[in-house]
Amino acid sequence: MRRIVEALEEKRALARLGGGQHRIDAQHKRGKLTARERIEVLFDPNSFEEWDMFVEHRCIDFGMEATQIPGDGVVTGYGTVNGRPVFVHSQDFTVFGGSLSESHAEKICKVMDAALKIGAPVVGINDSGGARIQEGVASLGGYGDVFVRNVDSSGVIPQISVIMGPCAGGAVYSPALTDFIVMVKEESHMFVTGPDVVKTVTHEEIDQEGLGGASVHTTKSGVADLAFDNDVEALLYVRRLLNFLPSSNRTPPPVRPSFDSIDRIEPSLDTLIPENPNTPYDMKELILKVVDEGLFFELKPDYAGNILTGFGRINGQTVGVVGNQPTVLAGCLDIDASIKAARFVRFCDCFNIPILTFVDVPGFLPGVNQEHGGIIRHGAKLLFAFTEASVPKITVITRKAYGGAYDVMGSKHMRADVNFAWPTAEVAVMGAKGAVEILYRSDLGDKQKIAEHTESYKAKFANPFAAGRRGFIDDVIHPHSTRRRICKALTMLRNKQVELPKRKHPNLPL
Ligand code: HXC
Repeated sequence: MRRIVEALEEKRALARLGGGQHRIDAQHKRGKLTARERIEVLFDPNSFEEWDMFVEHRCIDFGMEATQIPGDGVVTGYGTVNGRPVFVHSQDFTVFGGSLSESHAEKICKVMDAALKIGAPVVGINDSGGARIQEGVASLGGYGDVFVRNVDSSGVIPQISVIMGPCAGGAVYSPALTDFIVMVKEESHMFVTGPDVVKTVTHEEIDQEGLGGASVHTTKSGVADLAFDNDVEALLYVRRLLNFLPSSNRTPPPVRPSFDSIDRIEPSLDTLIPENPNTPYDMKELILKVVDEGLFFELKPDYAGNILTGFGRINGQTVGVVGNQPTVLAGCLDIDASIKAARFVRFCDCFNIPILTFVDVPGFLPGVNQEHGGIIRHGAKLLFAFTEASVPKITVITRKAYGGAYDVMGSKHMRADVNFAWPTAEVAVMGAKGAVEILYRSDLGDKQKIAEHTESYKAKFANPFAAGRRGFIDDVIHPHSTRRRICKALTMLRNKQVELPKRKHPNLPL
């Protein structure tokens, strides 16, 4: 018996060695952790239970039958993050470059199936040369099986992808189907076709970093949410992200005890809005002063900075925060901002996370690029997302809420539940200057008259009361009381239920 047990331990030790010590050393030399070390950082200590450690590939081509490495290039199983179960698949670059074989895909699918059945998030750690070349179409089939599960899991369990090495070709589409993508600077790259193919086809010369490095995807393409300096920072971030999320759409998001009083007032907010309506101020300051303990977990901070998205807590309960940012493009909605916020709002709605919207929006960004780029189509995504969201929705207008953008940004018309405005709010079709120039074109040469018209327009529309008179605003509130009013509204909305029309699914303008 003892010998049998020892043999088991030997087999385990062999599997844990992956592609061998020299490849582990090479991984470390590049500043990367191994697949198993990453799992150790992600999970609570000693909570990881590994599955399928002894799975091997079934390839008999190119001499592959002679090379068997137990586990076949991916470590899978489950553990806990702050006590809640989470499933993981972590590709092992030391084994055939982490490439995906049929067996490797089966292991990933097994944990994805279990996570869906149980209702627990999946974290996928990607570090792979892509399809196992020796297996050909069997490998492509494996990717297909993973994609199907990504789609089936969407909106049911949170899915997070962590890119910690190469992720190229069709392999990028599994992360792309998940809810959040985290990258590691310099070490991770994502592209559909690599630099060599790009050079052949388009004659553009670019290296991997310039084509699909972390900075590209967190600032230009919007593919990734955040990038970190190393594996440990990225994985600790994922732990924090998971703390905001429910395990599935069947369970509410976790409530964390808060020592921040729900009655806390913030006198400094009474002077946040500058005298000059064209002077920017930082919307993040308002968000930080409203959420519990000033903790705002921002997503995509370096992409479409004209809109802020992220998680916070109010009275211990997770909320999704969306806010126009006047310091970037005056807070206008453009294509990127619309897509960024729409995707975030839809995530919150899938997972029963209330949405808190802070509005200071002068409108959609004008311009040929925007029009030709399809701002109509993309802006419609945000409109659609806010409207279809049936979670509790609370909106606070701090300053401008102009035109179509007023409607879009969580207005009463888009079925927001509670709409507040600060006394500094201006709910109107447009700003005074633009309106007067259109309405009084014939007076444009007369400065005195234009000044009078502007003053009269401002008196009539540059305030929240015209909207208040129609019930589009539930109350005009003191800025200092914003947190208190939001806390009360959220508590009131806790049992909100909405009956939506029956249909297969809506046709989101993609
Ligand atoms: C089998 C692979 C492999 C692959 C790497 N290896 N990629 N084995 N299939 N796809 C093996 C290498 O042979 C090597 O084995 C070990 O992994 C490490 O690879 P290196 O090349 O030494 O590492 P490095 O220099 O860091 O380069 C990493 C790399 C490069 C950039 C990923 O290996 C590479 O370009 N690989 C091929 C990438 C590729 O074209 N994949 C197919 C993409 S198409 P030894 O034994 O020497 O250590 C695709 C389609 C998906 O994935 C479709 C989904 C629908």
